[in-house]
Amino acid sequence: MITTTAISTIREHVNAWRRNGETVAFVPTMGNLHQGHIALVNEAQKHADHVVVSIFVNPLQFSANEDLDGYPRSLAQDSDKLMAAGTAILFTPTPEMIYPKGLAQQTFVEVPDIGNELCGASRPGHFRGVATIVTKLFNIVQPDIALFGRKDFQQLMIIKTMVEDLSMPIKVIGVETIREQSGLAMSSRNGYLTADEKHSAATLKQALDIIISAIQHGEAIQDAILKAEKQLVNAGFTPDYLEVRNANTLRQITATDSELVVIAAAYLGKARLIDNVSFKRHLS
Ligand code: PAF
Repeated sequence: MITTTAISTIREHVNAWRRNGETVAFVPTMGNLHQGHIALVNEAQKHADHVVVSIFVNPLQFSANEDLDGYPRSLAQDSDKLMAAGTAILFTPTPEMIYPKGLAQQTFVEVPDIGNELCGASRPGHFRGVATIVTKLFNIVQPDIALFGRKDFQQLMIIKTMVEDLSMPIKVIGVETIREQSGLAMSSRNGYLTADEKHSAATLKQALDIIISAIQHGEAIQDAILKAEKQLVNAGFTPDYLEVRNANTLRQITATDSELVVIAAAYLGKARLIDNVSFKRHLS
């Protein structure tokens, strides 16, 4: 595996692969890698000749009250995991390389509407930061395909929208969420949980399943959500949002929509956890 901070090194390798007619898959990450990230790399191997991974903790997607400096960093361990997974190039740029003029002078990419709802409403500017860095990384790596976890469902939808709206010649693939045995979705943010909180954290997935089961049994969606919210509060969570949306557009659902996603964000101790489950509603 080649590890580099240099954009020119990435370009040289990618250009050489292309001249040989070989394809490139890209997995952008913020590091502190867990099995969910490695699943993305494994899936990437199936779709392309070479896999490029980036590790960059993107300051642009953290707001002033979010802990950018405290975000977990574990480059040596991450590098071992990526090498074992068969990564060809690991790109680890510094903020100065990515934003040489400083954040205030940076050109932004912004996806309207869905970028401002759900997590976008609670974390203003977050998805603008994500869309901007992903665009920059796409322009640096110029991959044929890019892979993102479905755990960050809204992020995945925003990136798909951006790629379509800006005619980027990249196929975006969403990869299934990897879960602990308890059902808890794997996330770098689980590291903020105490042992007791980690035990309670499994309730988030259970709450999503409760909503789906109630809807499939004909219960009103708002009643199902209220029931699940109570369960979350009893387990020590402070829910941010818990909603059922159209799984293809992430918009509010209509009476005839059948492909749905139940999507949630909730605080537990120091962690803000997100999760979602897509399902097909039985319509009579
Ligand atoms: O999902 C993440 O880890 C980040 O939002 C991403 C896509 C790497 C952009 O910084």
